[in-house]
Amino acid sequence: GSGLVDYRVADLNLAEFGRKEIELAEHEMPGLMAMRERYRDAKPLAGARIAGSLHMTVQTAVLIETLVELGAQVRWASCNIFSTQDHAAAAMVVGDGTPEDPRGVPVFAWKGETLEDYWWCTEQILTWPGGEQPNMILDDGGDATLYVHKGVEFTKAGEVPQASASDSGEYRVILEKLRTSGLDFVALANSVRGVTEETTTGVHRLYEMAREQALLFPAINVNDSVTKSKFDNKYGVRHSLIDGINRGTDVLIGGKVAVVCGYGDVGKGCAESLAGQGARVIVTEIDPICALQAAMDGYQVATLDDVVGTADIVVTATGCRDVVTAAHMAAMKHNAIVGNIGHFDNEIDMAGLEATPGIERRTVKPQVDQWVFPDGHAVIVLSEGRLLNLGNATGHPSFVMSNSFTNQVLAQIELFTKPQDYPTGVYTLPKHLDEEVARLHLDALGVRLTTLTDTQADYLGVAAQGPFKPDAYRY
Ligand code: NAI
Repeated sequence: GSGLVDYRVADLNLAEFGRKEIELAEHEMPGLMAMRERYRDAKPLAGARIAGSLHMTVQTAVLIETLVELGAQVRWASCNIFSTQDHAAAAMVVGDGTPEDPRGVPVFAWKGETLEDYWWCTEQILTWPGGEQPNMILDDGGDATLYVHKGVEFTKAGEVPQASASDSGEYRVILEKLRTSGLDFVALANSVRGVTEETTTGVHRLYEMAREQALLFPAINVNDSVTKSKFDNKYGVRHSLIDGINRGTDVLIGGKVAVVCGYGDVGKGCAESLAGQGARVIVTEIDPICALQAAMDGYQVATLDDVVGTADIVVTATGCRDVVTAAHMAAMKHNAIVGNIGHFDNEIDMAGLEATPGIERRTVKPQVDQWVFPDGHAVIVLSEGRLLNLGNATGHPSFVMSNSFTNQVLAQIELFTKPQDYPTGVYTLPKHLDEEVARLHLDALGVRLTTLTDTQADYLGVAAQGPFKPDAYRY
């Protein structure tokens, strides 16, 4: 680099292609563009130093440039080793400069990182030049937040512990990285006004820390904005699940038996997209409410044990662990496709698969592996068990991410500008902002809203301009 921007990406020469796709995305992201229009003069994020850990895609590039236009400085990493779109990362770094003279944003992300690379990148977004500390975190899955919390915990304990036998390979990498980290975690955590968290799994971690009184700064749960989880998790997945399966395998989905594990927001989107292609969809669930919903929606609900031998495609969408085991994969049909669309890679027991005696891994292409069992049958595993819609395809399309990311921008503004209103805890955005995010996306689709008359508003007991529903309403 020229010294103006520190960064690590795959290839800055991809920036021009990245810029063209970013411009196409801007047109599909009316919520983010409205944020720019509304706040570019006031610059509510002036002084914000945001450490961002979220899939470095074209859509995220539009988010990053919105945050910058609102006054923020940012450093960015991806929250998954396979999800970066290298051309988007390059365009961020180059900014309005050239590949020889980049003038954009420090990004540390490339497609196909190792776990060591991944946690190095996380360390880079928390390491600011000039002895400054980040004062905001924007997280997806909670890894940046976890890293800071572990750093503080071990600083206070006086040492980073040795890994124990039960620790995962990834946790060993984190411990090693923390052992050699030069960060002052206590000062860093004190400097952070808060974190805005994108996804279900990251939100789980935050509530857990809050329950254990371990949370060090306030958090806004962006996932549970209705305009996030009921749109991105469902309609986004409806688009990007089959995109990932198609690009990974190009197998005809129609007529096949597809098992979807988990019927939450993501599972509902998975089931609909597979059924839309003509697959016969079977759902597995642990929650009687979601199981009943799946049955009412017309899907067979079974246990994986009972149907594993008939499945052509198995997709996990649970946020849970060990959902598909090595024993399940041993019992599958030849060339059954196995993929995960939940946040972490422990939904499919990859470690157990690798440890199966006599098993052989044959890489077909990046993010597509055939695992051949001693009896000769194979399973096709997508993205090494990591989220396949971002590993094998390009994640959710721009329009749905505009909803999610407009919530992110509003949440960053809330926490950064009103820290006194948010004592340490986990919050969701108020309903009027949720409704506002939806409103910003209506015109682009030609939606005409009906307006309540005063009499009607009185009758319902709501204001004619909203909010329209009580907080407990489920949509
Ligand atoms: P959710 O909580 O709405 O749904 C998960 C469902 O899985 C629940 O209904 C739960 O009862 C069920 N479940 C849990 N353990 C199970 C098991 N062992 N077997 C069968 N079912 C089980 O969560 P949501 O929002 O659907 O998210 C699911 C995962 O997807 C999370 O990890 C989330 O972070 C991730 N996510 C991924 C996206 C992507 O683009 N790949 C987008 C949004 C979320």
